[in-house]
Amino acid sequence: MVYNELKAVDGVQVDLTLFRDVGGLSAYDVVIIGSPMRFKNVNANIRKFIAQNMETLRNKEVVYFLTCLYLIRDTESPGFGFPVFMDPSFDAAPKPISRMNMMDKTHSDTQYIDTLLKNSLDPVSIGFFKGRLDMKSLGVFSRLFMRGVLLFTKKEQIGDFLNPSAVSDWARSLKEIVSVGRRFA
Ligand SMILES: Cc1cc2nc3c(=O)[nH]c(=O)nc-3n(C[C@H](O)[C@H](O)[C@H](O)COP(=O)(O)O)c2cc1C
Repeated sequence: MVYNELKAVDGVQVDLTLFRDVGGLSAYDVVIIGSPMRFKNVNANIRKFIAQNMETLRNKEVVYFLTCLYLIRDTESPGFGFPVFMDPSFDAAPKPISRMNMMDKTHSDTQYIDTLLKNSLDPVSIGFFKGRLDMKSLGVFSRLFMRGVLLFTKKEQIGDFLNPSAVSDWARSLKEIVSVGRRFA
């Protein structure tokens, strides 16, 4: 969806590649990194990819496309210095982090972004989208873990919650970051 929106921009070359197949990033001006959230952080393989490419990424504009099942906005956050888009499907009422319980705190925009930025670079945009949970597609450990989560809270549920129109809206907003002649990965 993001790829389709951006490849429609005149003069922009966009490549869509699995992180493990990325040959090199030096030819690109902007790198959009997509990852599901796992244990309140981006997927471990993506963290490794970021660490391995840190020096190259320093000279790029980095964008994050992140999926998760639960996200709540912290109304005490002073902002992050870059735009953060939250899929409107996340319907938890925003709250000050100082009044959140532990589940909400650890799933707040403030905590997700603080954790992400500990081992990454400041991005030019982050989009958070509701993802999916298909127990059959998970390995034994992840399935057991998510079973525990589902017993503990109703805030995360089994199902496919991807909201294509939210993804397309955000992807269109990225066109402003792009200028003619740039290359995306
Ligand atoms: C082991 C594991 C840990 C997860 N941790 C979180 C989490 O911390 N916060 C959250 O909102 N969702 C969490 N999820 C849900 C995933 O982020 C969600 O299912 C995501 O959409 C999966 O993307 P995929 O379908 O591309 O794998 C977790 C899922 C698994 C299996």
